[in-house]
Amino acid sequence: MSKKDQIDKNKLPKHIAIIMDGNGRWAKGFGKFRIFGHHNGVTAVRDTAEAAAEIGIKFITLYAFSTENWSRPKKEVDALMELLVDTIRKETPTLQKNNIKLASIGNMNDLPAKCQIQLQETINATKNNNGLTMVLALSYSAKWDMVNAIKSIATQVKNNEITIDDVNDQLIDKHLSTSEMPHPELMIRTSGEQRISNFLLWELAYAELYFTSKLWPDFSKEDLYDAIYDYQQRERRFGKTSEQLNSN
Ligand code: FPP
Repeated sequence: MSKKDQIDKNKLPKHIAIIMDGNGRWAKGFGKFRIFGHHNGVTAVRDTAEAAAEIGIKFITLYAFSTENWSRPKKEVDALMELLVDTIRKETPTLQKNNIKLASIGNMNDLPAKCQIQLQETINATKNNNGLTMVLALSYSAKWDMVNAIKSIATQVKNNEITIDDVNDQLIDKHLSTSEMPHPELMIRTSGEQRISNFLLWELAYAELYFTSKLWPDFSKEDLYDAIYDYQQRERRFGKTSEQLNSN
């Protein structure tokens, strides 16, 4: 029986964040260049988005390119940018068919013009879709986002628009690039690495972390269902005791 049938549809995470890791190692296993792994990673992106949409997840955020990834060899960075443009263009009809809205977080100004234009085009084309929202984290790092949020809050204080006492959790949420989405309840990382790598540091405060040794290009719909099922078996206590939770 597929894990899909064992998932409680009333207890789905609204938002799943994913660190897609292991493309390079996957390619190496076939004696190929790293970009071969990234190309095959696109199939896993498609399967994951389809599975998430089918089951009723509202948001997935994919860590597609971090601020730190700019320091990879130029050849790999260029190939990844090409792949992003191509994939977003080719997959736009599939996004429409599956009622998926595309969104992005990160420093878009860093991306090549071609990439910014294609991204904006698909974001506009899918903006009325109301199924799953697929957020691509591009030229993103949580520290970058937090620095911007702090600068923007400091400016408001300086201009007397708010006072220091107005600064709280909710205000910080509003100044992050993720302000339009709920915090992820589940974070998945593939490839056996067990790190957060500057991804959604604020938003993952209470997320359940799920690590799998599968390399990203091998990640399938069934793997996503396994992760959701595993999440549903956990007790999310948010600092309370188990007894307190069970008496409510
Ligand atoms: C990490 O594997 C993967 C990336 C940095 C890029 C992810 C990109 C894709 C899956 C392709 C396009 C995606 C979209 C959303 C259109 P790695 O290179 O760090 O692998 P390694 O740890 O084995 O070296």
